Amino acid sequence: MSQEKIKQIEKEGMASLQAVQTIADLELWEIKYLGRKSELNDILKGLKGLTPEEKKIIGPLGNTVKQSLFRAFGETKEILLEKSIDWEAERIDVTAPGVPSLRGHLHPVTQVEHEIEDIFSEMGFVIADGPEIETEHYNFDVLNIPADHPARDMQDTFWIASSGEEEKYLPRTQTSPMQVRYMETHTPPLHVIVPGRVFRNESTDASHEHTFHQFECLMVGDDISVANFKWMAETFFSRFFGKKIDIRLRPSFFPFTEPSFEFDISCTLCDAKGCAVCKQSGWLELGGAGMVNQKVFESAGYLRGKYQGFAWGFGATRLAMMKYKITDIRLFMSGDLRFIRQF
Ligand code: DAH
Repeated sequence: MSQEKIKQIEKEGMASLQAVQTIADLELWEIKYLGRKSELNDILKGLKGLTPEEKKIIGPLGNTVKQSLFRAFGETKEILLEKSIDWEAERIDVTAPGVPSLRGHLHPVTQVEHEIEDIFSEMGFVIADGPEIETEHYNFDVLNIPADHPARDMQDTFWIASSGEEEKYLPRTQTSPMQVRYMETHTPPLHVIVPGRVFRNESTDASHEHTFHQFECLMVGDDISVANFKWMAETFFSRFFGKKIDIRLRPSFFPFTEPSFEFDISCTLCDAKGCAVCKQSGWLELGGAGMVNQKVFESAGYLRGKYQGFAWGFGATRLAMMKYKITDIRLFMSGDLRFIRQF
């Protein structure tokens, strides 16, 4: 009886498989003939109740039929899947030219920053990083620039709005605050540079930008002098420009250095012979410098008179302009890729 039934299931199953045209129909077919609740499965599950003779015949026959239905199912599935592919949509034009992948590169100011860092690293300096949002305390007070001091006007500040009771915050106007931050956690002898972005609330023109990059350089020990600064600056700029550069100091004032000076470098364009860029003087103004004011050492927790050191700061953006002969500082932050892609 079951033998007949099994053969009938096979016949019926094979015949109805011929009529299946879609994957969805095939799934229904699979449930009916191969599923857990299929007739064939019921018969195989019922083997236990049969006599040993019956089992010997029904068991192998059931399994053979199951396998052949399963094989036929697999073949039909393959055929239907292949039919369902839209070959036109899959067509690939192997002769079409490839799409070149875009490669980015570092911003020119970043490139210059890296060059500067490499030179200072070779000279034994440590590179430190400080917060771009500073407190009034570090940006001004500890650098001997109290609230009512006219020196605050030297740097137009973007203040971050506050209720006036808590500590006041600002986007740092200079990298100098890192002098004290660094000295608070380090003991001389120390030599460190601090590259970073600074922000000024001033109107922009070809040589002024509200956001630019500076470098702070600090060297402190028992007997560091102005002569050490001069040698260091000459060595650094000569390496940076790849030729001998001279340094000239002019007396100046910064609250955090005493004595203070501004320094010029010999004109890199005309080699100090005199040209339009250096206004025939042979010199280019570059940055501020001086011997660290003992008040600044005290702010950092050092004993007054115990150490000596120099600090200087200059614009990395300015150096990038000189290196690439760029006459408008605003190009750097313009986001104009036609400019950026040239570097
Ligand atoms: N922080 C000053 C500025 O942004 C530059 C400067 C002057 C840095 C003298 C120094 C220094 O370390 O000694 O204008």
